[in-house]
Amino acid sequence: MRIILVGFGVVGKSVATVLARKYTERIKDYSFNPKIVAIADIDGAVINPRGLSPEKLEAIKQRGYPISADSEFGHPGMSVLDVIESVEAEVVVEVTPVNIKNGEPAMSHITEAFKTGKHVVTTNKGPLALAMPALTELADYNNVFLRFSGTVGGGTPMLEFAKRCLAGDRILAVKGILNGTTNYILTEMSQNRVSFQEALSNAQKLGYAEREPSMDIDGFDTTCKVVILANWIMGRKITLKDVDRTGIRDVTPQMLDEASKRGNTIKLVGSIDDGKPTVKPTEIPKTSPMCVSGVLNAVTFYTEYAGEQTLIGKGAGGVETASAVLRDLLDIRHKLANKLLTES
Ligand SMILES: NC(=O)c1ccc[n+]([C@@H]2O[C@H](COP(=O)([O-])OP(=O)(O)OC[C@H]3O[C@@H](n4cnc5c(N)ncnc54)[C@H](OP(=O)(O)O)[C@@H]3O)[C@@H](O)[C@H]2O)c1
Repeated sequence: MRIILVGFGVVGKSVATVLARKYTERIKDYSFNPKIVAIADIDGAVINPRGLSPEKLEAIKQRGYPISADSEFGHPGMSVLDVIESVEAEVVVEVTPVNIKNGEPAMSHITEAFKTGKHVVTTNKGPLALAMPALTELADYNNVFLRFSGTVGGGTPMLEFAKRCLAGDRILAVKGILNGTTNYILTEMSQNRVSFQEALSNAQKLGYAEREPSMDIDGFDTTCKVVILANWIMGRKITLKDVDRTGIRDVTPQMLDEASKRGNTIKLVGSIDDGKPTVKPTEIPKTSPMCVSGVLNAVTFYTEYAGEQTLIGKGAGGVETASAVLRDLLDIRHKLANKLLTES
């Protein structure tokens, strides 16, 4: 499987490392031989049809040069779209920064990959939150696969659990704590009785929150994940604008104290049931399996036959998210192998 990696930041570097080293033996068990033939970022690209060494590229980036500065395989200034169009590969792994205004640059990268007959694995929520129904249709039309396991729950297989392990059952509702930053802030406020501002600045010092934290604290990140869950596992055709969203700016230590007296706490919960999908601060019992602390994520699926199923795990992290990318690549590999079998 020849791969074009677009974006070489936290997730991109981890994908390269995981594919090159950590999982070599397990990958061999699946008779799967991935090869990164190009890496493209904002400054240009490196291309080698025989496969690129991630160690060498990381060393270049550590020294402060763009990856395209590589003397052997570098193409400074080459655009991502040119790389996707001209390099022979089966899959594009898209891991550029999220943008929920217009989904760019990922939206163009994904559609260009489809047009050139390449499958796409992405961890970028932007394009999916804005246009998931259209993108899945476009993938089908071009006869390629679109996979996005790392967009919800980081390395925790929330989407696969619902899709595969609960196959045949009917998922009636989903509720989740889907954002580690807001969960850390609310946990700090509740356990250490600090204000929202103090908890936010602690989260920023620890690197859990961005300097511009709106994406997390105003609930946009959770909303993107609700959109992806609703489309992928509940068959809805919704986008960002269809979700009622409230962030956590107005939650106070007093509100948490009051909830505590009732045996509850307040979490930012994304939920999908019969009504309009919502994201809002919600009281949940401290005894609920979904009531996780710190940066953990948790999701509960309410099913017709299997009852309530809760999955807990880390919602982010480079290597964790890279494991989701690997899962998606293996899924595509299996799907292609099955297709070949059916055709023969
Ligand atoms: N980090 C996590 O734990 C995590 C978990 C789940 C999902 N995600 C999602 O995964 C994606 C990548 O996250 P990350 O943490 O790896 O981000 P990151 O560290 O900021 O890396 C982004 C990469 O994309 C490159 N890039 C920026 N603009 C570009 C453009 N216009 N064209 C081509 N490349 C461009 C950057 O290049 P420069 O370095 O030159 O700017 C960098 O190499 C995001 O959408 C994020 O939301 C991340």
